[in-house]
Amino acid sequence: MSSTQLYDTIGATYTATRRTEPRIAAQVWAALGDARTVLNVGAGTGSYEPADRDVTAVEPSALMRAQRPAAAAPCVAADAEHLPFADQSFDAAMAFATIHHWPDPIAGLREMRRVARRVVVFTHDTSDAGWLHRFWLTRDYLPEVGDLRVGRPSLTDLAGAIGARVEPVLVPWDCVDGFFEAHWRRPEAYLDENVRRGVSVWSRVGADAEQRAVRDLRDDLASGRWAERNRDLVDLDAAELGLRLLVA
Ligand SMILES: C[S@@+](CC[C@H](N)C(=O)[O-])C[C@H]1O[C@@H](n2cnc3c(N)ncnc32)[C@H](O)[C@@H]1O
Repeated sequence: MSSTQLYDTIGATYTATRRTEPRIAAQVWAALGDARTVLNVGAGTGSYEPADRDVTAVEPSALMRAQRPAAAAPCVAADAEHLPFADQSFDAAMAFATIHHWPDPIAGLREMRRVARRVVVFTHDTSDAGWLHRFWLTRDYLPEVGDLRVGRPSLTDLAGAIGARVEPVLVPWDCVDGFFEAHWRRPEAYLDENVRRGVSVWSRVGADAEQRAVRDLRDDLASGRWAERNRDLVDLDAAELGLRLLVA
């Protein structure tokens, strides 16, 4: 299944759990600097589009485009790898939580670099051998997530393709954008089918792995095993879970 077909299949309930997290948005918007015109690539329903700039969105999935609010920025149907814009036509191009879906992320990043003077990308670091162990959900319940990075470029390769610097992005304990890592201090949330349906990882690992992970987590929450294993998290307000901003 292509990445566009995936979102034409799983995207129907996206806005139930996915929305702009203001603290992460502030970091993204600061990285955009003084850009007046901004291209948002893989824009989905419009989260993280700065209201005070002139935004153009690009989104290949018709189902995702259809869920954009009426007042959202104009949206063009296209792939990151083939942006239908002239060289240097935007002050900045941004991409949030999307490049892991692109068939050729390096080509997409080079396209962003071609059409914009500044590039800001929110993604995650899969290049560290220990990444799987930073987050209890992948470490203890869903190691299959590791298979999803096979054949994908490392963060170093991605950053190198556009000459980007890398900034860590911490995840607040009460993060309001329900991406995969968002509920790191609220484990019961992952038992909720609606929470899982807003995150493509759960569909990509397959129903068997999903059901096993949820069953094991439910058992460990009930027995106190989760609390015992993760007692260090209770006092943290934000966690470093390998999320990164590339800024070029
Ligand atoms: C997790 S959603 C993120 C949407 C939005 N940026 C947000 O933060 O809510 C990933 C999006 O990437 C889009 N996508 C998939 N393949 C793409 C490609 N090759 N080029 C651009 N966008 C793509 C999907 O259709 C989907 O809307």
